[in-house]
This record gives sequence, C-alpha cells and structure tokens, in this order.
Amino acid sequence: MAALPPIAEVSGRPRRSYDEPITKKEEKLRIKNLSEHVGAEISGVNLAADLSADIFQKIDDAYNRYSVLVFRDQKLTPEQQIAFARRFGELEISPRTEFALPKYPEILVLSNIIENGKPIGNADAGRTWHTDMSYTKTPPRGSLLYAREIPIENGRALGDTIFASAAAAFESLPTDKQGSLLGLRAIHRGSAKKYAPGSKLGDLVKDIPDVEHPVIRTHPVTGRKAIYVREGECVGICSMPDEQSLPLIKELADMVTRPEFCYRHQWGLGDLLMWDNSMTQHLAISDYQLPLRRLMHRVTVNGTVPI
Ligand code: SIN
Repeated sequence: MAALPPIAEVSGRPRRSYDEPITKKEEKLRIKNLSEHVGAEISGVNLAADLSADIFQKIDDAYNRYSVLVFRDQKLTPEQQIAFARRFGELEISPRTEFALPKYPEILVLSNIIENGKPIGNADAGRTWHTDMSYTKTPPRGSLLYAREIPIENGRALGDTIFASAAAAFESLPTDKQGSLLGLRAIHRGSAKKYAPGSKLGDLVKDIPDVEHPVIRTHPVTGRKAIYVREGECVGICSMPDEQSLPLIKELADMVTRPEFCYRHQWGLGDLLMWDNSMTQHLAISDYQLPLRRLMHRVTVNGTVPI
C-alpha cells in the first residue's frame, strides 16, 4: 500500500467516556478546511438540535463542496442521528440486518465488540479502498458515521479512516488524458472474494448482476468531475480489451489514493463524519483489537444513478 497521509492535529481535549456531559454553546457556524483537497470541519452547530433551514442549507452546500464533513464532540441519540441524516435524502436500510441497531433498522453498527459470544456489529467494514456499493445501479449518496467508542492506546486514538478526493485526482490529470476518459464506462462487480468465506454480505453481492457506470462521474449538484473506478470492483471497461482496461483501472485507482489527495481522520468520541461517495473513496485502518473497543453507528443516504 502507498504511504499513508499524516495524521491531522486534533484540537481540544477528547471526551473519555460517552456519558461525560458536553456543554454546547450555540455559536456561529464555522467551516475550516481539513486538508488541501478534501474535508472540512464544521463547528458552532449542535446536530442534536432542530437545525433551521438556513443552517441546514449551509451544511448541505459544504457537503457538496468539501465531500467530507466533520462535526466534533456531538452527543446524538440514534433518533437524532437518523433525523439529521434524513434531511439529506431517503435512508438506505442495510441488508445486513444482523448488524442493525436493535429497533433502528436505519443504523448499521460497525464494531469489533463481542457480546454474549456474538459480534454486535460488522467488524471489517471498509478495510480496502472503495466507494460504497458502486456495484449497484444507484450507489448511496453518502454515509454519516458517528463515533460512540474509540480504541485508544497510549493516549492515541486508533482506527483512523482515510478519505481520498477522486475529484482532485481527476483534476490533476493532463487535459488530453481527461478528455480520453470522458465517455468511457466501467463494469462494476460486487466482489464476494473480499468478504470472509460464508459471510452474509459475500452471499448477498455474489448474485448481483454487473452494472456499468461512467469512469468519470459528474457530481449531480456541483458538476465537478471525479474518477469513479476501483481495482477489484471494476472488472473491465466497455468496448476495451482487458489488456488495456485493467492497467487503466489500476492506474486511475492508484491515482485517487495518492497521499496528496487524502485526508486522514483521527476519530474523537462524539465525532459525526459524513462523506460523499460520488467524489471520494475511503479506507478504514485496522490497527486495533480487543480489548480496545471501537463502536460506530452508520446511517446511509440513498443516491442517484451516476452520470
Ligand atoms: C466504512 O467503510 O463504512 C467503514 C469506515 C470506518 O469504519 O472507519
């Protein structure tokens, strides 16, 4: 794997326990870039509150513009996370019902925690670079991931997630190369191989028919263009022989995840992070294990057919 990007500095003292109270003053919404090409931190909003249409519009605009948004130190109930996510679109119900939060089918639990001998969540989500569910006809717009327990070792939070701007990667290509990619369509396949043998998700994806999507995807609101291929999930490019298409897919996929296009998020308890699947790819770093516990609640917003 290519060198990983540096860890961004975290401001303020992280809460040590989810039950530790937080006092949130209502301030003015502020937006701060998290890296050169992707991600912004939004402060001055309490997502547990009923946000005005004006504040929500600013957040939605920032989501479209920065592709990854981070809201630190939030204290959200499952209902509040669902209500905030719902403002961005219809919610997706994960087929992985065994990992849904009890009574909340909209929330998928990602966790390494075992209770009564059983995993309470999906322990290995996102361990390879990907954009979510590109093997479906209408991949999700994005997901909102909320940190409820973070593994901490020697004072350092583990289990970072890295986001890459596939838009910045496209924009860095020479104009003639960009032009040669427009109009190409890649074939996406849900690879059962990347899931553990016998895994339920592996069983689910293996029967999904291949889908075609543009190699260069256009953001439905901003019109920005981004590379939309991933090695392993793209098995070819329409009307192009494999000996040409497979190296091109690898070249483009490697381009997206170059460290200069990445933001590496070091999680703090109560972080709510959301990403836009059309413009980014992401990777969850697996550098912790029990007894260090990680517990995240993920809500996913439906998307539109890639154009
Ligand atoms: C994912 O790909 O949804 C997992 C991200 C994470 O757990 O950091």
